[in-house]
Amino acid sequence: MTALLTVNNLYKKYKGSKYFLSSGFRHAIGPINFTLDRGKTLAIIGENGSGKSSLVKMIAGVIPATSGDIFINGISFSAMSRQDRCKSVRIIFQDPNISLNPKVTIGKILTAPLELNTSLTAEQRKQQILKTLDLVGLLPDYLDFYPNMLSSVQQHQVAIARAMVLNPDIIIADSILSTLDTSLGFKIVNILLEIQAKKGISCIFVSHNMNLVRHISDQVIVMQNGKMVESNTTEQIFNSPQEATTKSLLQSEQPDYRK
Ligand SMILES: Nc1ncnc2c1ncn2[C@@H]1O[C@H](COP(=O)(O)OP(=O)(O)OP(=O)(O)O)[C@@H](O)[C@H]1O
Ligand SMILES: [Mg+2]
Repeated sequence: MTALLTVNNLYKKYKGSKYFLSSGFRHAIGPINFTLDRGKTLAIIGENGSGKSSLVKMIAGVIPATSGDIFINGISFSAMSRQDRCKSVRIIFQDPNISLNPKVTIGKILTAPLELNTSLTAEQRKQQILKTLDLVGLLPDYLDFYPNMLSSVQQHQVAIARAMVLNPDIIIADSILSTLDTSLGFKIVNILLEIQAKKGISCIFVSHNMNLVRHISDQVIVMQNGKMVESNTTEQIFNSPQEATTKSLLQSEQPDYRK
């Protein structure tokens, strides 16, 4: 059976032009190779600057890869339209305070991806938005609100709704819990897990929280200096970590999301 997501020999090289006398490439991410099946959850862990965000941004199509390929259901990204890629993989960024435009109502924030990527009528868009608000646990009343009128959990719910409104196959969450305290983070994780159970989507979590990673993921990738140094099932990673960096990441003190 073809995996939902296949990442094949992916590389990203950032040019180091802002550095004096630096003409070459400064940071290299890759090679990255892995597969993710439908309905499964992948966690990406690694120290700061190890390349986690660069990797997920390539998968979400936010930044182009320098080389390599990404396949969704066996179809290469390069053979898909931008709209189809956008519909298939959605990313939720770390801080909704930054990613949600404060001058735009929740209704407009949720309409934009539908206008850009689908040919739904205004009425169909409205129905899809109402369904999505219900999915993330927000009332329709919020459609006329602006992001700064909402609590930080509600802002995260809007960010999840914006990701879900196109019915994607894969949701990527990049360090979304780092701006929330434990109990609020727990609420957001539960919303995502419920959505995953209902919709059968695959999830990719970038997280520094090892309890969370252990609790919610099926497989783990460990990044170090842009390289994928270890990749295995969550059980194997936690029961028998092979690399020194994995061992040290697992030992880091983190709040327990299972409480
Ligand atoms: N646009 C860019 N131009 C040049 N270098 C970049 C750019 N974006 C990231 N980098 C570099 O690439 C490396 C990986 O960065 P990345 O943000 O992917 O790491 P990360 O694992 O997400 O870190 P963190 O845990 O702090 O979020 C870092 O050394 C970073 O400085
Ligand atoms: Mg990052």
